[in-house]
Amino acid sequence: MISKVTTHISHNEQLIFERSQPGRAGFSLPPLDVGESPLDEIIPSQFQREDDLAGVPEVTEVDVVRHFTRMSSWNYSIDQGMYPLGSCTMKYNSRLNEKVARIAGFANLHPLAAEAESQGALQVIYELQQHLAEITGLPGISLQPAAGAHGEMTGILIIRGFIDARDGKEGSAKRRVMLIPDSAHGTNPASAHLSGFTVKTIRSTNEGLTDLDHLRELCAHGDVAGLMLTNPNTLGLFERNIKEICRIVHDAGGLVYMDGANMNALVGIARPGDMGVDVIHLNLHKTFSTPHGGGGPGSGPCCCTKDLEPFLPVPRIVRTQSGSDGFDSATDNAAPFKANFDYPQSIGRVKAFFGNYGMMLRALAYILTHGYDGLREATEAAVLNARYITHGLTSDYEKPFAAPPMHEVVFTDKRQARRSQWEDRNSISLSTRCAQSPAKPSIIPNWF
Ligand SMILES: Cc1ncc(COP(=O)(O)O)c(C=O)c1O
Repeated sequence: MISKVTTHISHNEQLIFERSQPGRAGFSLPPLDVGESPLDEIIPSQFQREDDLAGVPEVTEVDVVRHFTRMSSWNYSIDQGMYPLGSCTMKYNSRLNEKVARIAGFANLHPLAAEAESQGALQVIYELQQHLAEITGLPGISLQPAAGAHGEMTGILIIRGFIDARDGKEGSAKRRVMLIPDSAHGTNPASAHLSGFTVKTIRSTNEGLTDLDHLRELCAHGDVAGLMLTNPNTLGLFERNIKEICRIVHDAGGLVYMDGANMNALVGIARPGDMGVDVIHLNLHKTFSTPHGGGGPGSGPCCCTKDLEPFLPVPRIVRTQSGSDGFDSATDNAAPFKANFDYPQSIGRVKAFFGNYGMMLRALAYILTHGYDGLREATEAAVLNARYITHGLTSDYEKPFAAPPMHEVVFTDKRQARRSQWEDRNSISLSTRCAQSPAKPSIIPNWF
């Protein structure tokens, strides 16, 4: 049996600064065979340091090589095992995408390089935007947010900007409630709260879906700014009433935000824009390649309807076209891709420069190598995998909801709890056998 990767024996590695010993050096120079020149003649005084490199560790070359080699061996990699984190593993982390992200022209491009010299990089952003807009059915898009939760906050700030503009200061101040089902991802309430909203929780039905009656009840007070719906939800279930849910929220004057981090169950099959969703974030580091886990970096693009587009973060990467506003044929034919800041209603910048660019390269490579048919197949495989795991475990674990799961499956430890087995032991043994995450998303203790 293949055992899991365990903590490295030298995880107690000292910092390189702690290894420092006065007088040690990582170089030795041959004796000088020319006359010595005064330093001021070689390096102008304004470029000379006066602190004698204070604080820089004094270590030998061997110290340096061994220290960094030991640390490099702690990196978890696709060569050692599957990338952890339950639902996020259900996609393909191809080596090709890693190779593309290392292409020197992209990897070494300075983020402040002139637009005319960054056309290829801007084109990648532009093309990825086009593909994601098509996949989600939502035409407005920003790739700036650095992760899923950051994309959520961006989306909610966009809703806030829209309502401020639509209802005016006074009207908007009355709409400060964000509705969130109890099956939403845990980051959703935090994003709503950080964006200045009060969170009200919608109950789930016995089927594990949003309770429509409770939603109607909560929408009846005229204070709802919007709804944040994780779909498929965190129980792994598709909210099949999503069109009705959107209608209820829209009728109440609110907007619908969909947490699209679980789009690996929908890509190529269903589009949130067609379901009535107003704004969504995607986790590129989940659905579109790039390993998820270990803290990132990630990318959480925000996609929205035409109505919400003016509120997206700036700059927005656009392609100038002959005849469009501000087109200067003398320069724009040669450099058509631009960072456009001219959106007066924008919520502003949410991330330095253009976002985490390496993730965008991986995502575009993933989309282009799969093609739309391949993306659909990946979705089918993700759902099939979840159902395969469901099939293998239902004889041992209690499955609280009858509906077939989408991107992930949830069990409870009800049977094991009766036999006094520990929830930890359950998930650890599942982790080892199914290569699941050491976090415990699949088993909810005492769900009922
Ligand atoms: C459904 C859902 N929403 C939001 C997030 C938050 O994403 P991130 O960890 O990139 O902030 C996750 C994390 O994987 C998620 O699964």
